Amino acid sequence: MAAAILARQRAERDEDGDCGFSLHSARVHEDLGNEEFRNLSLSGHVGFDSLPDQLVNKSISQGFCFNILCVGETGIGKSTMMDTLFNTSFEGEAASHSEPGVRLKAQAYELHESNVRLKLTLVDTAGFGDQINKEDSYKPIVEYIDAQFEAYLQEELKIKRSLFNFHDTRVHACLYFIAPTGHSLKSLDLVTMKKLDSKVNVIPVIAKADTISKSELHKFKIKIMSELVSNGVQIYQFPTDDETVAEINATMNGHLPFAVVGSTEEVKMGNKTVRARQYPWGTVQVENESHCDFVKLREMLIRVNMEDLREQTHARHYELYRRCKLEEMGFKDTDPDSKPFSLQETYEAKRNEHLVELQRKEDEMRQMFVQRVKEKESELKEAEKDLHEKFEKLKRQHAEEKKRLEEVKASLEEEMAAFGKRKTAAQLLQQSQAGQGAGAQTIKKDKDKKNSSFL
Ligand code: GTP
Ligand code: MG
Repeated sequence: MAAAILARQRAERDEDGDCGFSLHSARVHEDLGNEEFRNLSLSGHVGFDSLPDQLVNKSISQGFCFNILCVGETGIGKSTMMDTLFNTSFEGEAASHSEPGVRLKAQAYELHESNVRLKLTLVDTAGFGDQINKEDSYKPIVEYIDAQFEAYLQEELKIKRSLFNFHDTRVHACLYFIAPTGHSLKSLDLVTMKKLDSKVNVIPVIAKADTISKSELHKFKIKIMSELVSNGVQIYQFPTDDETVAEINATMNGHLPFAVVGSTEEVKMGNKTVRARQYPWGTVQVENESHCDFVKLREMLIRVNMEDLREQTHARHYELYRRCKLEEMGFKDTDPDSKPFSLQETYEAKRNEHLVELQRKEDEMRQMFVQRVKEKESELKEAEKDLHEKFEKLKRQHAEEKKRLEEVKASLEEEMAAFGKRKTAAQLLQQSQAGQGAGAQTIKKDKDKKNSSFL
């Protein structure tokens, strides 16, 4: 944005010479409608014409950030294209073909060119198109994009926000790699691009364009564009509102989707070294515009429209996400009568709504508690009654048992007494019998004594 503004302002200054200030004032006047601005001329140099340069210096010292998401089947040439675009080796590992689902891998890099620092994040879609059921393949991609918007929104909503040094990971451009089949788009391509078009700037590219003939490629491009239009897929259009780039952008919009070839292999062509792919029948030069659209892609993506992609991401896609999120949270700009509704009013309304809801819930819980207590109380009473009855029954049983045992005891005592009596009688009888026995023995002994004396 800053660079585009600067370019425009510089062009204006160059055109108007010293009259730059007056022209600007007139524009402001126009924009503000009813408010009156007086046009004044300065009698000497003041210095605020250095504002654009201050902006450039500030931007340069801050550095820039740009995030690219590559969506395409495994092995379609995503990593090679990134290496070719940025003329470096990002050293990404090739993805496995047996991923259970689509996994997004983000890797951040810092690149330097002249005195410009670029924080670049490349996001890869590992496993895209590898599953038998591809129905949900777009979901992890949408979730990733939303998660980056959410992180930015959270930072924005903080009381103490530091957007200045916040690492903005929102996706600025999504390169969608189409397989060079020469037929038509796959349903996976259409579904995915449709799901992404309101969230990110989608730039479709035909990958490995060296594998398709010139006439087939021409027809393929037309077919792709008509399928995108008939399915309502909105791809990113290079902007034509800025007159400095309007012409080139309009021409390039007519070449979409770009048919690209990627290679990091350097080949000597005459006295030049170029990046190319060599085949037994010839060489495809990556940067030769009659061989493929790689240069067009690089021009449009990096050299001309990088700032517009960043701006569109913020002003269109993020704005939409933010609006939906804030509306979901209950914030709105106007009340039902279309009168402006301030943030404070929204907050108060939300707070009151919340308090009423809280009160309702509290009452509900209190009633539920009372009900529960009552239920528990009657349950306890019932249990107490049961216990009481059980106790009474046991008490009765105990008394009966005691009575029965006392009777048994009494009868046993009677039996014991009778037994005692019988025992004493038996002892007496025994003693008397023993007495009689002893008497008979003494008589016998006396008789025996007498008999022996006679002898
Ligand atoms: P994953 O990371 O595994 O998903 O693959 P990828 O999409 O990153 O593909 P990668 O760049 O690793 O390239 C896969 C193969 O395709 C390599 O052998 C590349 O040399 C080859 N390749 C890349 N770009 C092109 C191209 O433009 N044309 C042709 N013919 N082959 C290419
Ligand atoms: Mg790769």
